Amino acid sequence: MRPDALSQTKDALAVVLGERPADSQAFARRIVTAFADHVNPGFLEARKSVTEAGDEAAVEWEGEGSILRDAAGREFIDLLGGYGIYNLGIRHPDVVAAVDAQLHRSPLHSQELLDPLRALFAQSLASVAPAGLTRAFFCNSGTEAVEAAMKLAMWVTGRHRFIAAHNAFHGKTLGALSLMGKERFRAPFEPALLDVTRVPFGDADALADALTTAAAAGQKPAAVVLEPIQGEAGAVVPPDDYWPAVRALCDRHDVLLIADEVQTCLGRTGAMFAVDHWDVRPDIITLGKSLGGGVMPVGAIVSSPELWRVWEADPFIHSNTFGGNPLACAAGIAGLHVTVRDDLPARAAKVGDRIAHDLRVMAERHPNVLQDVTGRGLLMAMHFATNELGYAVSAGLFRRGVLVAGTTANAKAVRIEPALTIPDHLVDEVLDRLDDTLSEVASAM
Ligand SMILES: Cc1ncc(COP(=O)(O)O)c(C=O)c1O
Repeated sequence: MRPDALSQTKDALAVVLGERPADSQAFARRIVTAFADHVNPGFLEARKSVTEAGDEAAVEWEGEGSILRDAAGREFIDLLGGYGIYNLGIRHPDVVAAVDAQLHRSPLHSQELLDPLRALFAQSLASVAPAGLTRAFFCNSGTEAVEAAMKLAMWVTGRHRFIAAHNAFHGKTLGALSLMGKERFRAPFEPALLDVTRVPFGDADALADALTTAAAAGQKPAAVVLEPIQGEAGAVVPPDDYWPAVRALCDRHDVLLIADEVQTCLGRTGAMFAVDHWDVRPDIITLGKSLGGGVMPVGAIVSSPELWRVWEADPFIHSNTFGGNPLACAAGIAGLHVTVRDDLPARAAKVGDRIAHDLRVMAERHPNVLQDVTGRGLLMAMHFATNELGYAVSAGLFRRGVLVAGTTANAKAVRIEPALTIPDHLVDEVLDRLDDTLSEVASAM
């Protein structure tokens, strides 16, 4: 231990417990240095909060609803929603109250007594999931949910191959990474763990061919794993007949169907689950991101008692320490309740339609800048001709106090994923600022 360990930890704790720093510039410099020296200097290059924030890096301090505030007191309208974690906005009062109540009862669990909130959260999830998906397993992230789904599919079928889609994103642990469509993330770790066949997303004929070829070669997969609407790939919506066809193909070939709804779950796309748009029941659904009500990290899978049977004989074959912990479940129960009570899937559909309409009008006005608008509900993306144009728009928005996705590394598709609770006046405001930004970028071309 270094001699300064006591003062280091004391100073860090003072930040946790203290007010917003009086000298925000000094605080920003301190945080940038700590990132560079102790986290990853590479990080700082890609962040608009450093590169586009003027003399003083934007250091996150607090948030409420769809407003984020940095340590200097500057406000940003959050149109990114933490890439899908903030369906309910930041610090939703009902979720905070539930977590606060549980925090004062017992934050974690004994690991031996029956923890009630896990059972009640699982029961609540069964009430919103597609019919028959009545069992839940909890973990701490989306990636872990994908791992659990893959293991369950392998266990049930006794097979170890998978079919996934080009440009798919399922997380970065070795199993989930095997399904990864983006070569950039996979390449340094090839050969990945599992034998995966990749097919174009949205093309049912290509999936039919892959399943037929696999069967002929005696290489039947355990499951087909797909996002219902691809998120990281840029809010890619498949044709309306795709998911029903995928379900029929999986049934015909006796292969399980896993819907990765980590990003699309709980109303994001304008339905409780994105598969509900097509009335399809997958065998396993993965959940994450917004599942913790925007307050706690929570992941889960839901599936049927038939598939769960293998797990009943030994529940510890796949288990973890923190999954389903009381704070996470308190947040999840409250978040789910608010989602149902306030009919947030319907609100996502309505607000999403309005934003998409206005974006398309802007795309007509600035066709050289904004080429296309995709997505459903409040999982949307603006598509630009080049990375540079996309970056210029997301940087211009940032300077106007609006946060969207899009980094220097990948800005061609800039995602819009606000809270499903975003108030109408903030939607008006961001659409104005976007129009302004597009005009600025177009006139600079
Ligand atoms: C569809 C999908 N699956 C899995 C993941 C991984 O989730 P996490 O980052 O919580 O591990 C993501 C994250 O973006 C995702 O979008």
